[in-house]
Amino acid sequence: METRIKTLGDEVSRYKISNRDEAEQFRLKFLSKKGLIHILFEEFKTIAPEKRRSVGKILNELKTSAEIKLAEWHEREETEKTRQAPSSYTPDLTLPPYPFDLGARHPVSIVKKRITDIFLKIGFTISEGPEIEDDWHNFGALNFPEDHPARDMQDTFFIDFAVEGVPARNSYLLRTHTSSVQVRVMESRKPPIRTISPGRVYRNETISARAHCQFHQVEGLYIDKGVSFADLKQTLYYFVRELFGEHTGIRFRPSFFPFTEPSAEMDISCIICGGAGCNVCKHSGWVEILGCGMVHPKVLENCKIDSYVYTGFAFGTGVERIAMMLYGIKDLRLFYENDIRFLSQFRSAL
Ligand code: PHE
Repeated sequence: METRIKTLGDEVSRYKISNRDEAEQFRLKFLSKKGLIHILFEEFKTIAPEKRRSVGKILNELKTSAEIKLAEWHEREETEKTRQAPSSYTPDLTLPPYPFDLGARHPVSIVKKRITDIFLKIGFTISEGPEIEDDWHNFGALNFPEDHPARDMQDTFFIDFAVEGVPARNSYLLRTHTSSVQVRVMESRKPPIRTISPGRVYRNETISARAHCQFHQVEGLYIDKGVSFADLKQTLYYFVRELFGEHTGIRFRPSFFPFTEPSAEMDISCIICGGAGCNVCKHSGWVEILGCGMVHPKVLENCKIDSYVYTGFAFGTGVERIAMMLYGIKDLRLFYENDIRFLSQFRSAL
């Protein structure tokens, strides 16, 4: 029996399978119910018990080698099929393509650009400055006296590190407004100055639907001979009408800022309810959108500009607040969560 198993083993290994028919013939001849290997297994049942072990082993090996041979052929055929697939595949060119997801501008960037574009049209330039500021540019030059409660108006993140040659404590901070950039502009340029400074600012506030520890501002500055409050009002009327539309109502309320005198806050009629009263305007019909005023003579002097010759106005507005008005967004936190469901809604505003 062993010799027959061995001869059959040789036959199996020499057998050439090159197509589907030959594979089937191979299977019938060796591996089917009536195949040669099966017959040997039947015979195996009758052999002497002491031979069982050795014969059983080579018989099993024979069966396995035949099975492997057949399986290998099937595998080869599969790979061959997939390799040939592209040539037999005719794409349907009329099908719509897979959607291609484009990114979009962030709503804060969209609104920041809309605001700056309005001022660029009337001759303002754009100036930028550092987000980490010193006390002088954020407060000192802007007439916030040391230890004056006015500093509490803006809860500040101080940076508590020592730098060589600089007094150690609280010398640096994250800017609380971009008025700091305007100080830098006044220090380095001669009037006439007509510039806006867009940028990110930081305040130590508890994060809620209406407040955040970071937001964006666009602040403006105009300094020349004979600039008056009438120029300030006219510029801001133009700005509001360009941004919110011809029929937007505007009103000024007296206010206080250390760096402007007189100071005002400007409200517009609520664009959500048209002035009738709603949640956004707290049922008053008006929404505050910016602070403004005539640059304080002390600020001009701090920046080496002669306050007897020059006057100027300044204003500052929050980008997120305007975006909330324009798009009817009710929660400030949405701007910083990077939720694609929120951001993708601004795709068409590119
Ligand atoms: N800097 C002020 C703020 O951050 C805004 C402002 C700018 C007010 C210029 C008056 C003039 O709130």
